[in-house]
Amino acid sequence: MIHPDIQEVILSEAQIQARIRELGAEISRDYEGSSVLLIAVLRGAALFLADLARDISVPIELDFMAVSSYGSSTKSSGVVRILKDLDEPIDGRDVIVVEDILDTGLTLKYLLKNLASRKPASLEVITLLSKEGKQRVPISCKYVGFICPDEFVVGYGLDYAEKYRNLPYIGVLKPAAYQD
Ligand code: IMP
Ligand code: MG
Repeated sequence: MIHPDIQEVILSEAQIQARIRELGAEISRDYEGSSVLLIAVLRGAALFLADLARDISVPIELDFMAVSSYGSSTKSSGVVRILKDLDEPIDGRDVIVVEDILDTGLTLKYLLKNLASRKPASLEVITLLSKEGKQRVPISCKYVGFICPDEFVVGYGLDYAEKYRNLPYIGVLKPAAYQD
């Protein structure tokens, strides 16, 4: 049963879950013998984090940041604000930033610079989706779930005006579903 506002499903629930299991196994291998601090960027990455964390076998800790870059529009403003900072220091920790989608890269660029200044032992990025050819700033992202077409997508944490985050798949909205 596909949501009536969805025009096309681009990644099914099964595809997403299978890829997350692979990413979890990769991280478990790469960090064998150590522990990882996963920092999720709220709110979109929360669902990805929840599934990914359970597919990682090395010890993990979780922390959260919230930034704003979009408001409720579908275009990147380039303006990044920290709405919620981490609860714990990260100096000396092996950190992986968990993102839902890498679009222009402006949000992550700001975030990585900010986190690097806190002197973690290592700092990597995992993103579920990366929009091919859209990055305006170079971001080195060690783990990428899927390359995604340059379209606005929703589901599995990704929203349009805070809706559709609970869809278990990722899809493109019908034009009629947009309010702006
Ligand atoms: P960037 O700064 O342009 O890379 O934007 C990153 C953030 O914009 C992501 O973390 C999402 O919150 C949001 N975003 C970018 N593209 C999409 C999309 O296609 N659907 C939903 N949110 C998106
Ligand atoms: Mg986000």
